Amino acid sequence: MANRSYNIAVIPGDGTGPEVVAEGVKVLKAAAAKFGFSINFIDYDFGGERYKRTGELLPDSAIEELKKVDAIYLGAIGHPDVPPGILEKGILLKLRFALDQYINLRPVKLYPGVETPIKDKGPEDIDFVVIRENTQDLYAGMGGVAHFGTPQEVATQTAVYTRFGVDRCLRYAFNYTRKRNKKKTLTLCGKTNVLTYIYGLWERAFHEMGEKEFPDIKREYAHVDATTMWFVKNPEWFDVIVTGNMFGDIITDLGAMIQGGMGIAAGGNINPDPGGVSMFEPIGGSAPKYTGKNVINPLAAICAGQMMLETLGEDEAANAIEQAVMKVTGTKLKSLAAGKMGYSTTEVGDMVARFVAE
Ligand code: IPM
Ligand code: MN
Repeated sequence: MANRSYNIAVIPGDGTGPEVVAEGVKVLKAAAAKFGFSINFIDYDFGGERYKRTGELLPDSAIEELKKVDAIYLGAIGHPDVPPGILEKGILLKLRFALDQYINLRPVKLYPGVETPIKDKGPEDIDFVVIRENTQDLYAGMGGVAHFGTPQEVATQTAVYTRFGVDRCLRYAFNYTRKRNKKKTLTLCGKTNVLTYIYGLWERAFHEMGEKEFPDIKREYAHVDATTMWFVKNPEWFDVIVTGNMFGDIITDLGAMIQGGMGIAAGGNINPDPGGVSMFEPIGGSAPKYTGKNVINPLAAICAGQMMLETLGEDEAANAIEQAVMKVTGTKLKSLAAGKMGYSTTEVGDMVARFVAE
């Protein structure tokens, strides 16, 4: 830890994004003060409001600037007045691709005091991590449309995987499983019975790499449909799951629900390569109907901040934030749902910051 001073780009974004990010920044400042590092926050106003005002989504100059920061902290992108796809593709996906954030890391962990819809399951049962490939698959943008708007309209969108893209994701997943050091089990989630080309590639690459480079890691396989069943029936079976972009998108929303919902679920878009810039976000959306009411749950954003510190190597501070969040869920909040926490957004942020400082 030579230079413990970080430049963090902050993109609060739309809706409740700015409210939850403000609480996250509060907690990050408390952690920095306590653990002796410094953070320089640089604000960017990308999102639906700026797009409506200026027509601009994410200029190339901003991407060049963002390539130089230590990490990006994102609130939420999504605006009720902007048709679906524009902001998502123009800002969020553009950032993931431009910064080559090829890992989407999504822990599914039930904290004490948090209600899960899964009957008879508790924090000892729900604690796994999904590693979602984040730049390929159906998200690669391969395909097109012809005869648009006519009865003959034809549309294709093709899932694309390269061996290189699969291998680098798998290597990260194996290393992560080793470092996590729990059950040392990595489950490949795929669909090898139908998507024989793409998940055939994943499966071969998975076993080849595992056998050669990670003999200490146990390898399991589950079809994606069965995976959703087991998330509900036997979540305790899982340690680390690695999967493609589209399946990962879907199963992590289910994962978020079993860990208590969008109020707590956080994720990291990670470029693990040397000099890579990663981006951390609460995985929920911009929740327009709660905007400006000081009722939204900021814990997901706070947990995203915690993941950011972990990725920057500030493990002690990250751990302190997690402990503080667990104290808040375990001893304070009535519910994780917006408006039902028993506290306001800012009060929740204050409590976490205070517990971090103590
Ligand atoms: C997510 C979101 C995004 C995705 C959307 C907003 C483009 O659902 O981060 O999971 O599909 O990846
Ligand atoms: Mn999603």
